[in-house]
Amino acid sequence: MQPEELASLIASRRSNIFIDATSHVSDSQINALITAAQFAPNHKHTWPLRVCVVRGESREQLGHKIADSMETRGDDPAKVTKTRTKYSRAPLVLVVAYAQGNSDSETIENSYAVAAGIQNLLLQAESFGFAALWSTPAKGANDAITGFCDFAPTDTVVGIVYVGSPARPAPAVERPHPTVTYRN
Ligand SMILES: Cc1cc2nc3c(=O)[nH]c(=O)nc-3n(C[C@H](O)[C@H](O)[C@H](O)COP(=O)(O)O)c2cc1C
Repeated sequence: MQPEELASLIASRRSNIFIDATSHVSDSQINALITAAQFAPNHKHTWPLRVCVVRGESREQLGHKIADSMETRGDDPAKVTKTRTKYSRAPLVLVVAYAQGNSDSETIENSYAVAAGIQNLLLQAESFGFAALWSTPAKGANDAITGFCDFAPTDTVVGIVYVGSPARPAPAVERPHPTVTYRN
């Protein structure tokens, strides 16, 4: 791969929720997405990545689990209702969590490692021509999600990632220059 090809892949990735729910993501593609995430750096080889592959009717079950916990918290009823079915918008939903470390700083570094892993995963999805979107789990739903996913209760869910073929392209997002300082 040429450097400009990688730059082009990175620049073409968009968060896109316009996903064809009838499309298909193969097992080998799912493995490639998860492998890409696992190749992110992780400090001291703590291997904090946890992934739950959610497909078929399990997508709606996940929605109900999260919606029930939102309802218990007294969240907006319209949001609760939407949550019950929203994971069926894509053929594949990946729940991504990081494991607790042996110290607070290790836990924070685990979260960085898994966030980097999600970006790897999104780029691998882009390379397959998929649309993908990293969504944030509802506040207070961590226990419901870790239970559903058979993760450890101490794991923290940081992303629920929708993946599938694009139904239409996502709008471009203007990217400002980041703050960069030079001390030559
Ligand atoms: C930690 C994190 C959480 C996000 N959560 C959501 C979300 O809950 N819902 C959503 O529509 N997009 C979510 N996004 C996607 C951002 O909205 C998106 O990255 C941003 O608008 C920039 O668009 P781009 O990814 O196309 O560059 C999240 C992104 C990150 C990094």
